[in-house]
Amino acid sequence: MEAGTSPVQRAPRPRDGEALELEVTALAQGGRGVARTAGGFVVFVAGAIPGDRVRVRVTKSKRSYAEGSAIAILTASGDRIADRCVHGGEPCPGAAWQGMPYEMQLAAKAEQVVDALRRIGKLENFAVEPPVAAIAPWRYRNKLEYSFGVGEDGLRLGFHARGRWDEVIDVDDCLLASEENNQARNQIRDWARGGGLPAYDRAAGGGFLRNLIVREGVRTGQIQTRLVTSPASFERPPVDLHTVVEPESGSTEGPTGALGLEYLEEQLGDLRFRISPFAFFQTNTEMAERLYEVAHEYADLGGNERVFDLYCGIGTIGLSMAERAGEVWGLETNEAAVIDAEHNARLNAISTANFRSADARLGIRALLDEAGKPDLVVIDPPRSGLSQKVVRRVLECEARRIVYVSCNPTTLAPNAAQLCEAGYTLRRVRALDMFPQTPHIESVAEFVR
Ligand SMILES: C[S@@+](CC[C@H](N)C(=O)[O-])C[C@H]1O[C@@H](n2cnc3c(N)ncnc32)[C@H](O)[C@@H]1O
Repeated sequence: MEAGTSPVQRAPRPRDGEALELEVTALAQGGRGVARTAGGFVVFVAGAIPGDRVRVRVTKSKRSYAEGSAIAILTASGDRIADRCVHGGEPCPGAAWQGMPYEMQLAAKAEQVVDALRRIGKLENFAVEPPVAAIAPWRYRNKLEYSFGVGEDGLRLGFHARGRWDEVIDVDDCLLASEENNQARNQIRDWARGGGLPAYDRAAGGGFLRNLIVREGVRTGQIQTRLVTSPASFERPPVDLHTVVEPESGSTEGPTGALGLEYLEEQLGDLRFRISPFAFFQTNTEMAERLYEVAHEYADLGGNERVFDLYCGIGTIGLSMAERAGEVWGLETNEAAVIDAEHNARLNAISTANFRSADARLGIRALLDEAGKPDLVVIDPPRSGLSQKVVRRVLECEARRIVYVSCNPTTLAPNAAQLCEAGYTLRRVRALDMFPQTPHIESVAEFVR
């Protein structure tokens, strides 16, 4: 047969549920290990790091790749370190990268940002600034959500085992949370056990305790606990825990009846912020300050600029830029967060900031009509990034500079490509580690035109 005419050999595809022994050679976007079967078929493996030889259970098999979970580590990577956050013998599901030394985690995150911009965004000529390492590798989260469940030992309060909605592992000390957060959770569990209160049973439909969210003002020492339950009546939880009961909710965003602290307060730099229960707040307080410092540096404000803070939440970025700008206009879909942002402007005696509640798709044009064209647009969207339509609205702003704060490099990259196609230049990008021990990546990118 002539060279180049042989039929393409497709690597045999593994079946759902099949167990394989594989060597993990790299990390994929999103944090899973990358391995190949003997025939070359790509398998993304949860719970494994480069250098591990693992037994993998295939959970999903697609045409061009499969997904699976490591069910046993046959030979550990030479880089592996012992898991520190372990619950009932299982590694903490919230700390999927804890087996990697911290420097390796940070390097992988920085690399994934650049890889996404190059491979997905097809962008080349931009400066890559060194990643900002986390200040605290553990106990950095100011918010954790726990689930109630039942085990042979009775009521449990902790995390769902990886990939198991029906199994909760009890948590006594999660090293991602502060000691105060752990104490609050344990007190609530003691209270529920003491009162014989049952966990909601999804399969049988009985019981009522569903979730617990513990949120903390790290700088103010305030703790807010939110209990999510099915309809039920029960004794008030311990008085020193500020508790909100959401009687009708299967989600964490149902109606609330406040029994305790309604708003949480937190301090970032010189500014004080009020946070409503369902408003977004960066989950790592100390690193939020670093993040905003990088955003400020990239914003390069001179004192007179008009700044649009899109996806502004409770106004943190815009308010912390207000001192160095002429005026700030924040846009945010969550009305409670906008009310917080307005309150926060007053709390910090800032009179040059305005906040509007709208979906970015519709709100940007209204903001342009009301405020006029901005000099700087700051964008901090959720993980899904900007839709094509929102990118078009951002382009209509004709700002000289755009500072894009991203929690997902795989959505930053296509948005960056769209901005660059329309005439912007990606000047520089910097990764920050807001979430050590996890694959989550934050980054800030500066675009100019
Ligand atoms: C990653 S948070 C950033 C918040 C804020 N910049 C901060 O640092 O705390 C994203 C915010 O976008 C808001 N949001 C989500 N979808 C939106 C939309 N379509 N239009 C406007 N805001 C939206 C969310 O409510 C959330 O407050």
